[in-house]
Amino acid sequence: MNSALDKQVISLLNEQIWLENNASFYYLYLSNQFGENGYNGISKFFLEQSNEEREHMLKIMEYMLDQDSQPLIPNYNFMEDLDEEFDILSHFQNSLYNERQVTESINKIVTKCKEINDVNTENFMQWFVIEQREEETKFKSIIDDLKIIGDSGSGLYELNKQLGTLPTEE
Ligand code: FEO
Repeated sequence: MNSALDKQVISLLNEQIWLENNASFYYLYLSNQFGENGYNGISKFFLEQSNEEREHMLKIMEYMLDQDSQPLIPNYNFMEDLDEEFDILSHFQNSLYNERQVTESINKIVTKCKEINDVNTENFMQWFVIEQREEETKFKSIIDDLKIIGDSGSGLYELNKQLGTLPTEE
């Protein structure tokens, strides 16, 4: 394909696709974990997160195709290696860690675009910059709440209920 995109940008966008897919599978895994442990509200929250990450992956793929570039479909399933012990706080902390890695990768793409003056891709990535800020804030505030709640059953009951009724993002 004769792409409008720089080779390094293509490679970074493909890495980003891999990360979004990875996040989608991780959140699906957590959705199951919470569901199996009776936290149906939190399970629903992570299912929604998983769907959003898949949307992010598809958004990048669509952009690359529009630019006559070849998006790579991730074929490595990390889930075979994943076996986290069920721990509510740790799952949210790992999710935040995951989001921060995604943010770092997005920043890398933006930096590269600035360096080579790829204004189109830089503009396209701005949506992700804003999205990441919102995602990190969301996880951070749930972690803060969980620290206050501690082992309180009624606190977890409320959080489970609250996260199960969050409006779906467009
Ligand atoms: Fe699409 Fe939350 O990274």
